[in-house]
Amino acid sequence: MTKKDTQTKVWITGGSGMVGRNLIEKNNNKSFKLLCPNRAELDLTKIKRIKEWLAINKPDIVIHSAAKVGGIHANIAEPTSFLLTNIKINNNVIEASYESKIKYFLNLGSSCMYPRNAENPLKENSILTSDLEPTNEGYALAKICAAKLCEYLSVEDKSIFYKTLIPCNLYGRYDSFSTQRSHLIPSIIVKLHTAITNNINEVEIWGDGSVRREFMYSSDLAEAIWFCLHNIKKLPDCLNVGCGRDYSILEFYQIAAKILNYTGAFKFDKDKPQGMKRKIVNSKNINLLGWEAKTTLEEGIKKTYDFYIKNHLDKNSIFA
Ligand SMILES: NC(=O)c1ccc[n+]([C@@H]2O[C@H](COP(=O)([O-])OP(=O)(O)OC[C@H]3O[C@@H](n4cnc5c(N)ncnc54)[C@H](OP(=O)(O)O)[C@@H]3O)[C@@H](O)[C@H]2O)c1
Repeated sequence: MTKKDTQTKVWITGGSGMVGRNLIEKNNNKSFKLLCPNRAELDLTKIKRIKEWLAINKPDIVIHSAAKVGGIHANIAEPTSFLLTNIKINNNVIEASYESKIKYFLNLGSSCMYPRNAENPLKENSILTSDLEPTNEGYALAKICAAKLCEYLSVEDKSIFYKTLIPCNLYGRYDSFSTQRSHLIPSIIVKLHTAITNNINEVEIWGDGSVRREFMYSSDLAEAIWFCLHNIKKLPDCLNVGCGRDYSILEFYQIAAKILNYTGAFKFDKDKPQGMKRKIVNSKNINLLGWEAKTTLEEGIKKTYDFYIKNHLDKNSIFA
């Protein structure tokens, strides 16, 4: 048997995404062989293809980070597709993994799974206690179904460990900087950078800037995922992963403005949707297991801005 045959095979779905790329970079376990087929090699909406792929590649562990992901504009515009595509991907990946006798499965949920009026910091046991936030309901429903499917399978079959991690909002290297798909932090970076380079002295903020959000640097999430994999038997069915600190939208703009050296003004478009008033997850349970996020917002924004400059503004870059 060659050394390669003794390696534990970890299938990372969504390996080309922000979380997937950070996970690949943060893997320092030499006994793990990572299998990261891209969408062209393995379309996760096609269950037959997934079953064929699993039969050939035989992974031991799955980290499921693939999803149709988008910001508030995209979620409002296409709720059907966010619901249907994500339900399909999740059902296919979970069902086929179980049929292939995979024992260890880490599913990525999202803080959108929490009811819009749930008490903050959001505790894992408040899922399904009330109505969801309408601006991303389709996406959230698909995430809740996947978490429940993992939970039901683990209850019915005590030999498997299918657990869901619920990260807060994320940003970081490999984030999407496209105007249609981007989340808050990359969109702030692009807006401020564009204003600076075009001598524009006013940047628009959606809403009144008062709603609060928790954003974690995605490399910290990657560390948390590898940590959780090593502790998978101790994990509850759902486990929050956050950095423990939230800021108002205006504060995110102000902190980024200092880093990018934008000295202009902000104006508020109060007619635009701004989602839940506050969203911060309660990370007490993962902290008790021994993990804490370590990147400050300032450090994370600096690194994300560097990534944007090097990879999106350089015409030779694959991301440009
Ligand atoms: N970003 C956040 O703020 C955030 C917060 C909480 C939770 N999460 C969760 O974390 C996970 C990863 O998110 P992310 O930010 O890394 O998203 P992302 O950058 O958009 O990556 C999504 C990944 O899924 C893949 N994918 C989508 N549809 C597919 C299909 N039909 N077949 C195969 N692959 C497909 C994409 O492949 P392509 O490259 O081909 O499109 C990409 O690799 C998701 O489950 C998300 O819900 C994200």
